Amino acid sequence: MELYIDTANLDEIKEAHDLGILDGVTTNPSLIAKEGVPYTDRLAEICQIVTGPVSMEVLAVEADAMIAEGKICMEVAPNIVVKLPSTIDGIKACKALADEGIKTNMTLCFQAMQAMLVAKAGAYLVSPFIGRLDDISQDGTELISQIRTIYDNYSFETKILAASIRHPKHMLECALIGADVATVPLQVIKQLAKHPLTDSGIERFLADYAGAFGK
Ligand code: E4P
Repeated sequence: MELYIDTANLDEIKEAHDLGILDGVTTNPSLIAKEGVPYTDRLAEICQIVTGPVSMEVLAVEADAMIAEGKICMEVAPNIVVKLPSTIDGIKACKALADEGIKTNMTLCFQAMQAMLVAKAGAYLVSPFIGRLDDISQDGTELISQIRTIYDNYSFETKILAASIRHPKHMLECALIGADVATVPLQVIKQLAKHPLTDSGIERFLADYAGAFGK
């Protein structure tokens, strides 16, 4: 399973990158707004740290404008993946960009048929938002499961990028279902390596050793 970090904050990206297991980054306009830095400037900085796929979202909502903006995004760095909404216009733009060899991440996917259409359009990634579905009392991980089945049924190559992940249980469920990628906030990445018995186990080992041999 590939691990991306979901942030536009450089300190968080550096911290995750230093772990040595970070495969990519996702950003969105809300995350950039929190940073208060122009989108292209921040994405250029991110691409100097991370060489894997870095998703940059277009602000356009109409297909031709999305295609034009997607091409401008690609001028930032060669590892940019153009992030487009999973709408009819997004699907058209996805197909046009994919035909030119440009990778896309189809975002704001909330139902399995959106995922099927973007796969047919040649998307590199599809981003089902599981946390936001849970927020409205729907089952986010069930959507991941449905998309996995459909993609396997028809051998679609689009990667499932589980997004809007809120806690380690989301990650576990996505890994068991077989999501290809998860994009996760730094806080949750840290929680993945946390267990109280690990901490108390370390303390006991060190105390026992110190009791026998001194520090
Ligand atoms: C994914 O690419 C999105 O940036 C992200 O996962 C959205 O998550 P949120 O629902 O926590 O805003």
